[in-house]
Amino acid sequence: MIDQSVGIDALQFYTPPFAIDLATLAQHRGVDPDKFRIGLGQEQMAVMPPDEDVVTMAANAAHPLLEKIEKEKIRLVLFATESSVDQSKAAGLWVHHLLSLPSSCRIVEVKQACYSATCALHLASSYLKEHRDEKVLLIAADNARYGLNSSGEPTQGCGAIAMILSISPRLLSLDPHQGIAASHVMDFWRPNYLSEAVVDGKYSTQVYLNALIESWTDYSSRSNRAFSDHDRFCFHIPFTRMAKKAYERLAKHVQSPSEYERQVAASLLYSRKMGNAYTAALYIGLASLLENDSSDLSNKRVGFFSYGSGAVGEFFSGTVQSNYKEALLATQHARLFERRTLLSHKDYEEFFTYSVPSDGSNHTTPQISPSQFRFLGVKGHERLYG
Ligand code: HMG
Repeated sequence: MIDQSVGIDALQFYTPPFAIDLATLAQHRGVDPDKFRIGLGQEQMAVMPPDEDVVTMAANAAHPLLEKIEKEKIRLVLFATESSVDQSKAAGLWVHHLLSLPSSCRIVEVKQACYSATCALHLASSYLKEHRDEKVLLIAADNARYGLNSSGEPTQGCGAIAMILSISPRLLSLDPHQGIAASHVMDFWRPNYLSEAVVDGKYSTQVYLNALIESWTDYSSRSNRAFSDHDRFCFHIPFTRMAKKAYERLAKHVQSPSEYERQVAASLLYSRKMGNAYTAALYIGLASLLENDSSDLSNKRVGFFSYGSGAVGEFFSGTVQSNYKEALLATQHARLFERRTLLSHKDYEEFFTYSVPSDGSNHTTPQISPSQFRFLGVKGHERLYG
């Protein structure tokens, strides 16, 4: 019998080697640190240095994964981001170049706030059923910015995740049936002329929860699956308290007792130290779950809620594969956190306010990041990487 399963074969995320402790930020903003630690559920926030962007974060995430597979099998690269570096050229083309991927490869960028990686995942899954010998490289990378002194500031963050999608995946096979909820709302957006998002924070949390219930209702009626058919849940994580609230709202909606510690807590450990990574956040949650849940998750079903402001919500599910532990990269991920420098408040603000000239004049970035791929600067309107 042909194996019809398709899904995530490997995943590796990247977070830059700098972060700020939210207790430090709270002290400088005159806020009780418990508001960030307990109220938002965040400990630290990853900060992008001047010589990194979504291209370098993506290349730094994908590079180690590609060393382990035949690159010729990748004929489709999907790059999900809302922090794009160009209006025309897909960020994936720089990554394709930096990682020496085969020239016989389709590359596109996809966008719908934090939701786009999920849409790309399902499009890739249909593609792979027609191209069974190929693999797809799906990257999600973002730098979440709300502005200094704003209420969204403690929910910033950044990071990238690279996933190899294939037939007979080693980590997670996607189940059929998804539930979707789309509506035109202005809860969060970023006009082209701004480098920070415009957000109606409290409203965005309500829209997120409404989209969760609506997409769950659509999913459960299409799939005939009940809440109890899922062993674990992963939610989009703008801040970890939001994911906790989402789980509790869903459990209440279906009149099931809340088992937050067992069903959700392990998925939030990485985001608690990274902050929001927009398109990548849900899948960093999956990495956190698979790598930190102390139970054997083999053959267990995980329910996922993906949300992108604006807004699109999607509920879907997948089944953890039998030998998933062999394909995990927990040690590499632990090293990323171990090597981080916690920035002073002054250095964080300097990193935050750094920008390349907006008129495109030539510019060289200072060498700060020790990571493999760096953003070198701009020459003749061209972004340079090395
Ligand atoms: P705020 O309004 O300053 O915070 O910012 P607050 O007053 O609502 O307080 C937050 C929580 O801390 C509250 O708990 C307080 O009670 C508690 P809750 O009422 O929610 O249970 N609190 C304390 N707890 C313990 N000790 C204390 C203390 N003080 C207060 N001393 C807000 C919060 C989320 C509005 C803001 O951070 C924000 O605007 N963030 C950005 C928007 C966002 O993340 N929205 C989430 C849903 S939209 C989404 O997920 C999409 C997104 O990822 C973008 C995309 O799709 O691309 C954002």
